[in-house]
Amino acid sequence: MSTTLLAINSGKVFLTLGGRHGVTNAVLGSRLVSVPRRSIIDLSYSTHFMDFKGSSIPSSMKKLVVTKLSQNFRHAVSLQTVPVPTPGDGDLLVRNRFLGINASDINYTAGRYDASVRPPFDTGFEGVGEVVGLGLSASAHFTVGDTVAYFDDGAFAEYKVVPVKKIVRIPSAKPEYLTLLVSGATAYIALKRLGELVCEGETVLVTAAAGGTGQFAVQFAKMAKCHVVGTCSTDEKASFLKTIGCDRPINYKAEDLAGVLRREYPRGLNVVYESIGGAVFDLAVNCLAQRGRLIIIGFISGYQTPSGLQPVRSGTLPAKLLQRSASVHGFFLPHFLSDYGEAMRDMLQMCASGKLVCKVDMGDKAPGGRFVGLESVYRAVDHMYAGRNLGKVVVELAAAVESKV
Ligand SMILES: NC(=O)c1ccc[n+]([C@@H]2O[C@H](COP(=O)([O-])OP(=O)(O)OC[C@H]3O[C@@H](n4cnc5c(N)ncnc54)[C@H](OP(=O)(O)O)[C@@H]3O)[C@@H](O)[C@H]2O)c1
Repeated sequence: MSTTLLAINSGKVFLTLGGRHGVTNAVLGSRLVSVPRRSIIDLSYSTHFMDFKGSSIPSSMKKLVVTKLSQNFRHAVSLQTVPVPTPGDGDLLVRNRFLGINASDINYTAGRYDASVRPPFDTGFEGVGEVVGLGLSASAHFTVGDTVAYFDDGAFAEYKVVPVKKIVRIPSAKPEYLTLLVSGATAYIALKRLGELVCEGETVLVTAAAGGTGQFAVQFAKMAKCHVVGTCSTDEKASFLKTIGCDRPINYKAEDLAGVLRREYPRGLNVVYESIGGAVFDLAVNCLAQRGRLIIIGFISGYQTPSGLQPVRSGTLPAKLLQRSASVHGFFLPHFLSDYGEAMRDMLQMCASGKLVCKVDMGDKAPGGRFVGLESVYRAVDHMYAGRNLGKVVVELAAAVESKV
């Protein structure tokens, strides 16, 4: 059977004619050349542009699939070989170069994002890579070779189809851009939106301050001219926190967190960016100042348990909040997508002008070394849950031979 497809290369569109079972001929300008057979050729590509040099697009790829609901990532997820997907009319096919690890990856594999979901389903929230194919409508905005980032479910794959509306154009495929998509955006929107919150001169406590999202909460609170207190578990993390403007890093393994807060902040905390949950949440509530605001960003201390939660002293919460006119807000990034575009534009500008530090941890100091390849996502999740990461945990996928990134 003969197939017709359109291919785009260096900004030009070429009509190519090919056979499913033999060598494919491509008309390149006026020259007729042979290109290797591509087993992914399909009639549906007649309305899609694929990277024709792209020979470098294989017919199959690896991706991570949740095959069993569990908060244990290794039990829940298996590595599978599947066909490379085809972009729809408004989609891009992105070859992933960097993938972001998030604390909530194990909430997702446990089915906590959607109680009705049943395996198998894809996993992973964000990626950075290069456009290697696209639909006709998408070609009005993008072309093959563009470097892009996205926040979309199912990112743990070598190739990913992403709707244009979820794409953020980036200057180059660097892992630092990955830090902004979920981690940076969460801190930016939570502190700006809920935390009208953050006013000059106020005291802000950030927990898990040296991690993916914490590092941005520290920097945005500092930009708002607040006094910033940040918790972490090692002296190396505490030193890093000083470099990004944290006024009082607290290594909670070396110092008693409750004691430090009571002694050094007797007037209480005006804002808390809280990611740990359980006893740390209780402590933060007890330390709130009059009209203090606590933003629940997460409760990582419970994610590895069957319920996903560590108990908190909720019985006394109403009285504690009333007595201080204090408040507790929940924040979940997908509920604030109307703010996402502005957050990304602003953060990308800050990055370009060197105003924002985007610390990335690619596992260079982890047992087994740098996180390279989808297989290393498992180790990267372990690294985070051992509390060893400094900055955003990122996995690198090998660049294709002809890749521009
Ligand atoms: N609400 C949202 O939309 C949203 C979006 C993104 C992230 N989050 C939340 O933000 C928090 C941080 O997520 P992230 O992806 O940026 O991770 P991360 O901060 O890069 O890594 C997690 C860090 O948490 C600290 N931690 C404290 N207790 C822990 C425990 N019992 N188990 C494991 N780690 C512990 C560790 O650092 P130290 O112990 O050294 O401090 C660890 O490095 C999580 O609660 C996550 O759910 C929420």
